[in-house]
Amino acid sequence: MIQLHDLRFEPFISEERLTASIDKVSEQINRDYKDKTPVFLGILNGAFMFASEIIKRFEGDCEVAFVKLGSYEGTSTTGKVDTMMGLNMSLDNRHVIVIEDIVDTGNTLAAIDLILNGKNVADYKTVTLFFKPEAYQKGYNVDYIGLEIPNDFIVGYGLDYNGLGRNLTQVYKLKKQDMKNLVLFGPPGAGKGTQADVLKVKYNLVHISTGDVFRYNIKNQTELGLHAKSFMDKGQLVPDDVTIKMLGAELDKNPAANGFIFDGFPRTAAQAEALSDLLAEKNTDVTAMIALEVDDEVLVERLLERGKTSGRPDDADEAIIRNRIEVYYDETSILKDFYEKQGKYYGVTGVGSIEEITGRISKVIDSL
Ligand code: IMP
Ligand code: MG
Repeated sequence: MIQLHDLRFEPFISEERLTASIDKVSEQINRDYKDKTPVFLGILNGAFMFASEIIKRFEGDCEVAFVKLGSYEGTSTTGKVDTMMGLNMSLDNRHVIVIEDIVDTGNTLAAIDLILNGKNVADYKTVTLFFKPEAYQKGYNVDYIGLEIPNDFIVGYGLDYNGLGRNLTQVYKLKKQDMKNLVLFGPPGAGKGTQADVLKVKYNLVHISTGDVFRYNIKNQTELGLHAKSFMDKGQLVPDDVTIKMLGAELDKNPAANGFIFDGFPRTAAQAEALSDLLAEKNTDVTAMIALEVDDEVLVERLLERGKTSGRPDDADEAIIRNRIEVYYDETSILKDFYEKQGKYYGVTGVGSIEEITGRISKVIDSL
């Protein structure tokens, strides 16, 4: 494990594996270019180490140029790419081999394509040491690929995190934080609020109830609260990005939390994606969706019983109760699918005493 600036990284790809994959692409390049006197065009800074290995292994005549382009800050692409700087030779009628360290979104590749298409090159191909298929958003063919890797942030072998890590001879990936972020679900009357109150103390989690967050922001007339209210006043749903910003502000308020209990959000697959993206910015993710399971008839009985004393009109009418339960199951099933696919769905029997139910949920949390 190593630390660069504020982040920790764990070993990911050994030098042996890197060497083997460089040998593999070098063979292909030698086969295709040995007699063509190509120009290797290394993209600085990240590609310097990989470029040197590729060029050392090239068995024919070649020329070499390095250019700088692209701007990249922190652990996600900024999306803005500059022009090619430092090219001091003509590429007219030359066979160009662009050497990249990593192809992520493909934005850099798109910029290079634009620039090279504006020049008089005979043709060009691209070789990259790393390729992230899940992050790639373009259609260009990447001709030679060393290693396909998952969408993790890596450092080493030329790649950096805010300037550090380029000198490492093996590759490390960002270590996820050990947070426990729970999406808590339960049908009306299942005792979700009660459980959240117990769990947040037991596990030092911060309970984020979307309803409370809305009310807080509106009451205190925060910028986001006023923005949300402008939709509500028109009878419209608050857009997801506004809600997500509010949740983001809650996360920022609690940097030392062991994790969060999300209550009332997400409700759709799109919101679940958005939540995952938000947590990714904090170098973490949803750990589990915990759904309390209670038989419909038990719920109806409980709510009718509660209605006798709560004074809530929606607790007094059996048809309304059944409809609320149905809406709940529609929403849950979408999210159940979403999290089940990631192996993160846990159903917990929600019948019994408060302690019994806490016990069952704790078992799940302890196993995470
Ligand atoms: P793209 O334009 O999104 O394909 O990203 C290309 C540039 O982003 C690379 O040349 C790197 O400088 C940087 N980059 C992308 N992913 C990583 C990573 O995991 N670690 C370090 N830099 C990265
Ligand atoms: Mg780079």
